[in-house]
Amino acid sequence: MTVCKNIKKLIFKINKAKTNHNSIGFIPTMGALHKGHLSLIQKARKENDVVVVSIFVNPKQFNNPEDLKRYPRTIERDVDLIRDIADIIFIPDTEEIYPKGFGANIHISPLADVGEGKYRPGHFDGMATVVLKLFHITQPTRAYFGKKDYQQYLIVKQMVRDLHLPIKIVGGETMREESGLAMSSRNVRLSHSDKEKALIIYQTLQQGKEIIQQGEQNAQNVIKKMTDITEREEGITIEYIEIRNMSDFLETDEITEDVVILIAAQIGEVRLIDNIEVHLS
Ligand code: PAF
Repeated sequence: MTVCKNIKKLIFKINKAKTNHNSIGFIPTMGALHKGHLSLIQKARKENDVVVVSIFVNPKQFNNPEDLKRYPRTIERDVDLIRDIADIIFIPDTEEIYPKGFGANIHISPLADVGEGKYRPGHFDGMATVVLKLFHITQPTRAYFGKKDYQQYLIVKQMVRDLHLPIKIVGGETMREESGLAMSSRNVRLSHSDKEKALIIYQTLQQGKEIIQQGEQNAQNVIKKMTDITEREEGITIEYIEIRNMSDFLETDEITEDVVILIAAQIGEVRLIDNIEVHLS
């Protein structure tokens, strides 16, 4: 396992792997690694010759400076956790990724403007910009993204399609704690009682799924019933509940095809997102 902090050194290693016709699996992360990341890395290990993991808390995708400041940083623990399954761990500092004068910005339309994009302006541009940059540096055969960040996964897929990048985007299912809480780097900032409150997110998603599968087709009715459930829990503010078609990610009034239900919620200072896919047949 090699730790690289420098882009040139990393490209040298990647080029060497490429000359030997090795496939490269890449998992971009912002650290504070959990079982969700580990399952992506393990999948990449099975499917590729060389596994590259990046750990970089990307300032460009935080629209709230306090959120950036508080984002958990556990580099030593992260490296220990993956030293036996990753071949290269890329840990650049901010100047390495964004040298003075950096001016590129990637906007993927219309996906970046809806859903999370509406609530976190600029977030998806910052995410797509760093991911594209990391793709150019690591030149992966396959890149792995968790579906907890459902919209991010779709945006990266669209970027790869629109820009003809020769990369296969692989989605990983959301990993959950036994309680149902979706694994997230932000969970370390939840107190025990916050974690209890957060359980309502997945419970509400499951309820929404059940309501649809029992035949309710009116999206607003489903959202209303879900909102009633969340309103019973104190200490959690729901930012949005949305129902979107899986085919085009458009918000739907009438549920006539497979959909994804998405929730964003605030518990104390921690913002959490989660989603559930609902297949009609
Ligand atoms: O999902 C994340 O952790 C980040 O958005 C990513 C893909 C590493 C880009 O900074």
